Amino acid sequence: MTTGGQDALNLVFNLLKSHTRQLCIENPCYLGASLIFKSAESTIHPVPVDGEGLRTDLLPRERGSLLYVTPSHQFPTGSIMTLTRRLDLLRWAEETDSYIVEDDYDSDFRYDGPPLTALAGLDGGRRVFYAGTFSKSVGAGLRLGFATVPRMFWDEARMLKARMSNGQAWLEQPALATFIEEGHFDRHLRRLRQVYKARRDCLVAALRRTFDGPVILGGESGLHLVWRLPPGLPPAKRIQVMARERGIGVYALSSGAAYDFAPGARDDMLVFGYSSLTEAQIEDAVCRLRLILDHSRRGAP
Ligand SMILES: Cc1ncc(COP(=O)(O)O)c(C=O)c1O
Repeated sequence: MTTGGQDALNLVFNLLKSHTRQLCIENPCYLGASLIFKSAESTIHPVPVDGEGLRTDLLPRERGSLLYVTPSHQFPTGSIMTLTRRLDLLRWAEETDSYIVEDDYDSDFRYDGPPLTALAGLDGGRRVFYAGTFSKSVGAGLRLGFATVPRMFWDEARMLKARMSNGQAWLEQPALATFIEEGHFDRHLRRLRQVYKARRDCLVAALRRTFDGPVILGGESGLHLVWRLPPGLPPAKRIQVMARERGIGVYALSSGAAYDFAPGARDDMLVFGYSSLTEAQIEDAVCRLRLILDHSRRGAP
């Protein structure tokens, strides 16, 4: 158990840094992961993602990498890694003697399609370190996350955890365990999935009603989705600023909790988080966004 997902990523990183020659990270990516990787001396290879997840064909072939990925719902683009790419990734890890940290931060919330097998489930406990969190499902203030590590690293992981924090605050753990064992967690997730799915549906419907054939990506699961902006609209960073001035939080890929090693390269992608807004707030925000964008068009030279 760890202090949230961020601590799980730190634990895995510290465990593997002496086994690692270079760091690979999906790009764009989660800011928290980029901060950990940038704190190291090693070379960083940002690896692009597309609609099928990480571009496995662009991974370096040198031996000894540590790769960070979010296959079940890429953060922030929302793409879901295909099974073919997952298998490619595991093959790459074997062939290059590399390790993977799979950050499964929001897979409790899958609205469409069958459940996905995590990389860690396909790997058979060899090369994948699996990091999870209760921040999305129960609350970020709880600070409870976890990491599962291949058996050959168990002893080292225990030693490292002892060195870093001498264990984990215990009170919340049995409380959460009881919550899970007595079936409350399952019920809670089922209810939340319904609420968030309705909010996701409301956002998608509002975008479709308000704009002409919007391309919406990554809405099958998680708590956010992406609108790929059509030509003629301002760059996402600009829209973010204009919207914020009017009290609306929409984000470019290189801002908020996201980080882009090539800032501005994908400035046609606008991220919407919907889980904490009511349907009325979502509809109102999309209406206001329309006014802001109409205004910006009229104001354009
Ligand atoms: C992609 C991703 N990974 C990990 C985390 C870690 O969350 P926490 O440290 O709050 O558990 C977050 C939080 O927003 C996230 O977005």
